[in-house]
Amino acid sequence: MSKIITNSNIKSYSEDILSTAVKLLSKNDLVAFPTETVYGLGADATSDTAVSQIYKLKNRPFINPLITHVSNEEMAYSFCKETQLSNILAKAFWPGPLTIIMEQKKNTSISKLAAANLGSIAVRVPKSKILQDIISKLNKPIAAPSANKSGMVSPTLAEHVFEEFGEKIKLIIDNGQTEKGIESTVVDARSDCPVILRPGPITLEMIQETTNSQAKLNTSSELIESPGQLLKHYSTQKHLIINSTNCSNDCAYLGFKNLMPDNKFNGVSLNLSKKGNLNEAAANLFNMLRTLDKSNAKNIMVAPIPNKGIGVAINDRLKRAAL
Ligand code: TXA
Ligand code: MG
Repeated sequence: MSKIITNSNIKSYSEDILSTAVKLLSKNDLVAFPTETVYGLGADATSDTAVSQIYKLKNRPFINPLITHVSNEEMAYSFCKETQLSNILAKAFWPGPLTIIMEQKKNTSISKLAAANLGSIAVRVPKSKILQDIISKLNKPIAAPSANKSGMVSPTLAEHVFEEFGEKIKLIIDNGQTEKGIESTVVDARSDCPVILRPGPITLEMIQETTNSQAKLNTSSELIESPGQLLKHYSTQKHLIINSTNCSNDCAYLGFKNLMPDNKFNGVSLNLSKKGNLNEAAANLFNMLRTLDKSNAKNIMVAPIPNKGIGVAINDRLKRAAL
């Protein structure tokens, strides 16, 4: 029997909803909203009470710090120490899907919980107009992880947020499918050479070119600096088998370009991008994984994805999901 879903907390964006969101955030409540990457679960970053609710609701370990979202560089540098590198990266990629790790200034108003008591802090200026409007009207930074339970697949639709939390969140702002579909690139800008801790829509090549440096990717699970990367992540309920070029009938298949099961296959299959476009594949990834996870298949098999550009981020998420 199918479950009846009442999703009265999902609302389209309007001036009234903006006011409601800001009222809720001012009272230390949480609000879910779309960003250009994935849906976020936001709290006033200056309130311990509000930020602690994020960890509680997501069941997130307190050692895994959050990203603080701000309007612009000026707001970022009110609590972060700028470096030559952070300036170059911010000028090139903000507003947009790049999170910059910086040193925190002393005695700021940011909740210690938001950055898990580290000396560093992750900051992003989002392109999303909705989140920009919320930050401006609240006039405070917003701490926001992806709006899913810890370790699960990130949400790219308002309905996904509802599937995760139901009515435990008072407001989920709906703006359809998010543009990028994959979380922001996280880059450490505390030294002269950028280190990418989480690959994302801003690729290694883009960062190398912009900073004229030997920027490198370091997603090693031993990295103390990136506690979030220690964890198995982006999990589906079903077992995920990656880099599969053939598919058994008891499995669901997530294809790419012309890598799809033949006519004899009678299971469920979806194609991340028939054209073989990696941006389209990234935008479809989490939604398609969720859809296949709901099928009757035993396991999910995924086609090999070219490991270049945003494909590196896709493969990073798939690898962690398959652990
Ligand atoms: O696109 C995104 O980044 C979305 C939207 C909502 O902005 N947010 C998001 O947040 O993906 P979350 O919490 O799911 O991922 C944040 C990542 C984690 O891997 C965390 O460990 C890392 O950023 N992080 C946060 N603060 C850090 C810090 N001070 N040093 C190193 N890594 C940090
Ligand atoms: Mg997340």
